[in-house]
Amino acid sequence: MRTPFIAGNWKMHKNRSESHELAVSLVQKLGDVPHRLLVAPTFTSLETVAEVVKGSNLLLGAQNMSVARSGAHTGEISVEMLKDIGVSCVILGHSERRHTYGETDEMINAKVLLALEEGLESILCVGETLEEREAGAVEEVVGGQIRKGLEGVTDLSHVTIAYEPVWAIGTGKTATPEDADTVHAFIRTVLTEMYDKSVAEATIIQYGGSVKPENVKQLMAMENIDGALVGGASLKAETFIPIAKFNV
Ligand code: PGA
Repeated sequence: MRTPFIAGNWKMHKNRSESHELAVSLVQKLGDVPHRLLVAPTFTSLETVAEVVKGSNLLLGAQNMSVARSGAHTGEISVEMLKDIGVSCVILGHSERRHTYGETDEMINAKVLLALEEGLESILCVGETLEEREAGAVEEVVGGQIRKGLEGVTDLSHVTIAYEPVWAIGTGKTATPEDADTVHAFIRTVLTEMYDKSVAEATIIQYGGSVKPENVKQLMAMENIDGALVGGASLKAETFIPIAKFNV
C-alpha cells in the first residue's frame, strides 16, 4: 500500500509574513490528514515556515539545492544550510529549473545523490514538453530523465517521482487522469527494469500540472497516481486544503 503524498510548491511567491499566514492556516486545518503533506516555500521564507510547521504533520521542503557542498558558489544554497533550517525534502529537476535555468540530467542526478547522502528526501520531477508529446516522444523523454536522474541511486525509499507534463504546468490544462496514469505506469516499468518490481510498486509517483480541488479526486483515483505536486493551487489555503484532504 502506497501512502499518498501531497506537496505544495510555492515557487517564487510570498514574503515572510504571507508565508507565515498560509503556513499557520494549513497547520490549523490539516492536522487530521493521515497521509504525507509537504510545503516548499521560497528560500527566504523557509525559516519562518519551519517554526510554524515544527511538530505538525506538514513536512518542510526546499525548491532546489546546490550541486556543491560549499565554497565559491555565488547565489547557491547548500544541502547543509537546508538541513540546518529543518528542511527534510528537496524538489529537484523541476521543469522550470530544467527549461528556464538550464539544469541538465547530469546536474540533477548529482543533486539527487547529494541530497540522499545527506539524509534529505528528494522529489525528482520529470515530464515532456508539448512538442515532445506531439512527436510521440513521451516515453523516450520521461524514461531518459528517470534513468539519468537516478543513476547510481541504490535505495529508492527516500525518492518520490513527480510526473509533471510541462504543457500542464501553470496553464490550467491538466493531463486527463487516464493519460497521466499511462505515464505513471510506464515510469513503474522503467523502475522495474532499473530496480525490481517491489521497488517499482512501492515508489510514490506524484502527478503535477494544474492540480485543483475540482480534479484532484479523479487523478488520485487512478491506480498509479499516489500524490500531487501542486503549484498555483497551493498558494491559497482555500484551494490547497481541499486538495490535501482529497480523501478525508
Ligand atoms: P501548477 O504547477 O500546479 O501551477 O500547474 C505545478 C508545478 O509546477 O509543480
